[in-house]
Amino acid sequence: MKKIILVGAGGHCKVIIDIIKSQNEFEIVGITDKNPELNNILDIPIIGDDSKLKQIYDDGVDNAFICVGSLNNNNLRSIIYKSLKNIGFKLPVLVHKNSIISEFVYIEEGTCIMPGAIINSGTCIGKNCIINTGSLIEHDCKVGDNTHISPNVSIAGGVNIGFNTHIGIGSSIIQGVNLGNNVTIGAGAVVINDINSNSLAVGVPAKIIRINHSV
Ligand SMILES: CC(C)(COP(=O)(O)OP(=O)(O)OC[C@H]1O[C@@H](n2cnc3c(N)ncnc32)[C@H](O)[C@@H]1OP(=O)(O)O)[C@@H](O)C(=O)NCCC(=O)NCCS
Repeated sequence: MKKIILVGAGGHCKVIIDIIKSQNEFEIVGITDKNPELNNILDIPIIGDDSKLKQIYDDGVDNAFICVGSLNNNNLRSIIYKSLKNIGFKLPVLVHKNSIISEFVYIEEGTCIMPGAIINSGTCIGKNCIINTGSLIEHDCKVGDNTHISPNVSIAGGVNIGFNTHIGIGSSIIQGVNLGNNVTIGAGAVVINDINSNSLAVGVPAKIIRINHSV
């Protein structure tokens, strides 16, 4: 079994542990977190803060995974990704066994696919993304790096989504729509038009309520 270190001990970490244990490919050596009072998550020990990561890598653990979730801001995940890559870690793709992914889907490193997610053929998912529980991404979509597709989102065919974008829980995006970078789509929105970069859009149909919005 290959050794892996997890970064971030919040709720998202529990689901990542669940995926890794179901795969039988990685041995989790521990979790790093900034909160020194935590002891363990699901019996996996918290072994220190992120300043330990270089030593862990030098000790022979060359896989890592980001377990920090995101509600509407992906910056922290992006910063951690860069620091893990600078150290030299590999970030695998983690796919829950109860997701359905076409063999004609391309997924880049550090991305996790949660239980019940469905991704159809011709779709490309970037690095360090979260494709969350029960979400549907139809054929021929593009999802940029560091983007979070929240639980129960439905994305129709041919949708392009930029990087650092957050698609809120339970929202829907109709076919062929383009979403820029650093976009936030509010929970329950129905997106029927293109949304420019750095915008926050909410509602049915989704309207932009804030620009120069930093995700
Ligand atoms: C859109 C969102 C990011 C806005 O958060 P925020 O920046 O704190 O904004 P506010 O709560 O100040 O809301 C701003 C306005 O938008 C409205 N609004 C916020 N979220 C909305 C939504 N999902 N649908 C419709 N209107 C919404 C608010 O009522 C408020 O309206 P007002 O100015 O008339 O009072 C947040 O409400 C949201 O929907 N987050 C998604 C969370 C998610 O996906 N969680 C799953 C994680 S796994």
